[in-house]
Amino acid sequence: MDGVSFLVTGAEGMLGREVVRELQHRGLPVTATDREQLDITSMTHLDRIRRDPAEVSWLINCAAYTAVDRAEEEFTRALSINGVGPGALAALCSERGWKMIHVSTDFVFDGESEIPYRPDDRTHPINAYGRSKLFGEEKVLENARHGVVVRTSWLYGVFGSCFPKSILKAWMEGKPLRVVADQSGNPTSARSLARVLVDLALQAAPHGLYHAAGPETMTWHEFASRLVGEASRVSGLPHDVHVEPIRTEDRPSPARRPRFSALDSSATWALGVEPMPSVDQDIHDFINDWEEVPKAVPAATPEPSGAPETP
Ligand SMILES: NC(=O)c1ccc[n+]([C@@H]2O[C@H](COP(=O)([O-])OP(=O)(O)OC[C@H]3O[C@@H](n4cnc5c(N)ncnc54)[C@H](OP(=O)(O)O)[C@@H]3O)[C@@H](O)[C@H]2O)c1
Repeated sequence: MDGVSFLVTGAEGMLGREVVRELQHRGLPVTATDREQLDITSMTHLDRIRRDPAEVSWLINCAAYTAVDRAEEEFTRALSINGVGPGALAALCSERGWKMIHVSTDFVFDGESEIPYRPDDRTHPINAYGRSKLFGEEKVLENARHGVVVRTSWLYGVFGSCFPKSILKAWMEGKPLRVVADQSGNPTSARSLARVLVDLALQAAPHGLYHAAGPETMTWHEFASRLVGEASRVSGLPHDVHVEPIRTEDRPSPARRPRFSALDSSATWALGVEPMPSVDQDIHDFINDWEEVPKAVPAATPEPSGAPETP
């Protein structure tokens, strides 16, 4: 792809690092910025980018405030990073003639649906984080001349903390596993999402709202059980663990979570973007990629014939 270049914000986060890795893997030019280099809430930083002679084709915004529970108490901060900052970035992109991809969340929905949410379904966030992200979506679509807002869900990956790491660490330490079994959604590998975001850019996806999430809907309990099963296969460690299903009210948290937040991503795949692999495949890749899960020693190669026989 000649002439396509990228600027990634929040490049030290879980998704940001995967996006940079994906771009580098494809040999595409990328400028990766962390919060120190480009704080999306800092007018000084944004002005510096405004005056920077470097041209980019796509800005991919992976910067976000993702502390869902803390956002209940820090709404102003969450709104600044998830709402006002992305809006300012979008305006900057328009001035510079850059296209923008912005990442949002399933938590803009209230979870009352029985079927996966489509991009144009009614939003109604039930926590502060979701409200801050919804504001960001609106500002990006309003301020960017070419803005692609991609909602995803239940993101996990090797860079940073996430549900699969917590589950597998507890499992490896022999701790009891009690996992919520009455919330459903789409586990989504950050690595697979990064590939989809780059594909959307290379296919020049039109301005608008998109969904991109893993292909299966399941509860956190089922996700945890699949993680342990695969980690046991890969590591050779015994599987003998009972993953106890619990209810949301058994583990109270400051922020409410939607009961059901699966996303219908079919419109994204209809653009010609390759859908994400199966959850089992992505779990397998994640476990292989994460060095903290021991890998079983490969089966010994048989001795060549003629080798001395052991008694
Ligand atoms: N994680 C999930 O389960 C999930 C689910 C659905 C959607 N999403 C969305 O997916 C996107 C990526 O999430 P993630 O899990 O990769 O988040 P993450 O790991 O928390 O990364 C966010 C990054 O943004 C940086 N950041 C924070 N404030 C900033 C600012 N003012 N300017 C520039 N950078 C800033 C953070 O840096 P510091 O660490 O220095 O603060 C961090 O490196 C977000 O838009 C999120 O809302 C996530």
